[in-house]
Amino acid sequence: MNNYLETAIAIARESGALLVEMFQTPLEIAYKRPSDLVTEADRQSEALIIGHLHRQFPHHGVVSEEGGGQKIESDFCWYVDPLDGTTNFAHKFPVFCVTLGLAYRGEVIAGVVYDPVREEMFTAEKGSGAFLNGQRLHVSRTAKLADSLLATGFPPFDHNHDLNLQLFFLFTLRSHGIRRPGSAALDLCYVAAGRFDAFWELKLNPWDKAAGSLLVTEAGGRVSDLAGGPLRIEPAEILASNGLIHDEMLPVFREVLGQKSRVQGQGIRDEGAAAR
Ligand code: IPD
Ligand code: CA
Ligand code: CA
Repeated sequence: MNNYLETAIAIARESGALLVEMFQTPLEIAYKRPSDLVTEADRQSEALIIGHLHRQFPHHGVVSEEGGGQKIESDFCWYVDPLDGTTNFAHKFPVFCVTLGLAYRGEVIAGVVYDPVREEMFTAEKGSGAFLNGQRLHVSRTAKLADSLLATGFPPFDHNHDLNLQLFFLFTLRSHGIRRPGSAALDLCYVAAGRFDAFWELKLNPWDKAAGSLLVTEAGGRVSDLAGGPLRIEPAEILASNGLIHDEMLPVFREVLGQKSRVQGQGIRDEGAAAR
């Protein structure tokens, strides 16, 4: 493969250094919507990343969370989250990362997730494996849901919380427990690294999952929607696991989500909550 991955690693490292520096300083918090935060760190990190991508790959499209990207006609598209874990960052909870995923004709072919606090660089290229600081990653061998450690997340602005709280409740009873660290890209990398046995979310944006989902599959895991169908890159549900407990989890989603509508491009919606 070209120098895509190496370039993405260098950019993520630089952006990560900026985030760590800004983490030490007081920051003004703005709201995109209630509970959907954005800080100066999100914006500065995005400007840095997009500047590099435009200079290095002027003919590639870029989709970035804070809107600074440019979706042009190109076979290549970068999905960028300049700061994944903004709420953590704003509250000085040191769990956040920067992530870049590169898709070619809609298929993710390279991905980087960098946690600058722990100096953990997660990388993957399609067909070449997943790595943490250069060491090969493998998903866990946990074979039963009852023996698993799980993770989930809650989109900051959607009406899915009631449904996901039900899932949280049921999976808590059926596993060793659930963590909710607040950075979906890192959650996916932790599945790839065998630290979690599975992660799910009812609606996840392309920039949150592009790189991390490639890490999971390249580490030997499985990614799908919550019915076991193919993962979609647009905003939609995701289940990522070590592959061994995947089929055991699907009936729990069916039990809670039942006939809830799966709206193309919108993830799963709790129709009742929207009316409340
Ligand atoms: C959020 C985090 C969180 C997930 C949300 C995302 P942000 O991203 O990844 O863990 O549950 O769905 O929106 O806003 O911190 O970049
Ligand atoms: Ca994010
Ligand atoms: Ca973000």
